[in-house]
Amino acid sequence: MDDELDAATVQALLDAARAARARAYAPYSRFAVGAAVLDDQRRVHAGCNVENAAHPLGLCAEALALGAMVLAGGRRAQALLVLGEGEPLVTPCGGCRQKLREFAADDAPVLVADGRGVRARFTLGQLLPQAFGPGHLGGR
Ligand code: THU
Repeated sequence: MDDELDAATVQALLDAARAARARAYAPYSRFAVGAAVLDDQRRVHAGCNVENAAHPLGLCAEALALGAMVLAGGRRAQALLVLGEGEPLVTPCGGCRQKLREFAADDAPVLVADGRGVRARFTLGQLLPQAFGPGHLGGR
């Protein structure tokens, strides 16, 4: 898995997440986030956060990127990159880790980036150990 994530693919994920972040709708937090997912056909799907005046209804960038993948017919996420600014690094929230688990294996890379580029790299299993997933319900 890891060796399949070559420099050009990482750059494509970065570019997509950066462009998506520029479209974030975050008037309440003013915290713009972009995300990009690589599917099993090597296609890249991006998302940004979309907030709502009813605050709990806001959507994370990762959720929209996964939704874009599903809409395009993708069913497996090979990697995810999330991009935000500031310290600490913008790692995916707990809910988004679980959302990603639906479509990705434990060894799927999760890249964390900011304006300077990729700053940290994890596997989904590191971020969400002992996860509940489709396998518990008879899926993969
Ligand atoms: N946010 C994301 O989109 N992804 C993350 O991984 C962390 C948080 C968004 C949600 C909300 O719109 C804003 O960042 C502040 O929490």
